[in-house]
Amino acid sequence: MRVAVVGATGAVGQIMLRTLERRGFEAEAIVPFASERSAGRKLDGYGVIRPLTDETVQGYHLALFSAGGSTSKAWAEKFVAGGAVVVDNSSAWRMDPDVPLVVSEVNPDAMDEARKGIIANPNCTTMVAMLPAKALHDAFGMTAMVATSYQAAGGAGQKGIDELAFQVPVLHEDITLLVSDGRQAASLVESSVHANTLAYNVVPLLGDLGDNGYTDEEMKLQNESRKILGLPDLAVSPTCVRVPVMVGHAIQVKATYENDVDLGEALEVLRAFPNLVVEDAPTPLEAAGRDETFVGRVRVDLADPKSLNFFVVGDNLLKGAALNTVQLAELAVARGLVVAPA
Ligand code: A2P
Repeated sequence: MRVAVVGATGAVGQIMLRTLERRGFEAEAIVPFASERSAGRKLDGYGVIRPLTDETVQGYHLALFSAGGSTSKAWAEKFVAGGAVVVDNSSAWRMDPDVPLVVSEVNPDAMDEARKGIIANPNCTTMVAMLPAKALHDAFGMTAMVATSYQAAGGAGQKGIDELAFQVPVLHEDITLLVSDGRQAASLVESSVHANTLAYNVVPLLGDLGDNGYTDEEMKLQNESRKILGLPDLAVSPTCVRVPVMVGHAIQVKATYENDVDLGEALEVLRAFPNLVVEDAPTPLEAAGRDETFVGRVRVDLADPKSLNFFVVGDNLLKGAALNTVQLAELAVARGLVVAPA
């Protein structure tokens, strides 16, 4: 088995390499790819970093991509033509009808519809929400979902983490100002990654705003949830918010079902779902670095007996990205989708 990791020097790519190793993925070679900037350099434990060229992409069984949408658009099909099955962590292929969008515990059977040889990994926020959503949908039949995210700085990559890490000590210098004149405190630092000062703050704008007033990040929550759950008419009301957390996305979900819900049964199906842990009040800090997804604050809605409220948390770089990509690679092998390149 020859495996290419495209974007091997990036935040998610690095975790992909570690996750392959940690899970004992059997491969004769794991070969790192990155941009021309890094090509030729040695990556500890993996040899020389390759550039993407018509020659270098030949002869792989599997290619795992996390190098941005435009790189995936340009190179995924070339890896497929060279013999590989591609698992892509970018948004480039997610809504293509010939590309399955898969959460390993939720809709693994969709992998058999990889008509382009490409399997897409969902957006990190959608991913985390899908585990409890699927468990409860199978029990009660979901018709609508109001989802409000609390997304970590690390969702914007290393540069998102760095910007928050730089801002915190600057604002921390003057706690009195934070209390008495927050606008002045916020202006002490510049923000280029996040839409506003994130330290000691909450920013309700994340991604690019569309004509309908929703961001692309919010539209992913609607469109990807529908595709993963196979519910094209699911009513989704998404709001995405950035919070001053380094890693770990949280989502408050109000889900509405066809019939009245039963709290005991809800907790039972959540506890039985693979890689999902029920806790009283899960937090992103305690989810950082963990493979599991955590769900808690499960309550029947006060005003509507057909609705449940729950709070779900997961590591956006692991289950939200690198771990699910590796799980999909493992599934592709187990399901016989990976064959020897010609
Ligand atoms: P490089 O380190 O050479 O720039 P992140 O999401 O952390 O910013 O990482 C992005 C990853 O995608 C990095 O490994 C980066 O490589 C890689 N990358 C970015 N642009 C390209 C490109 N045009 N071709 C190949 N890899 C790319």
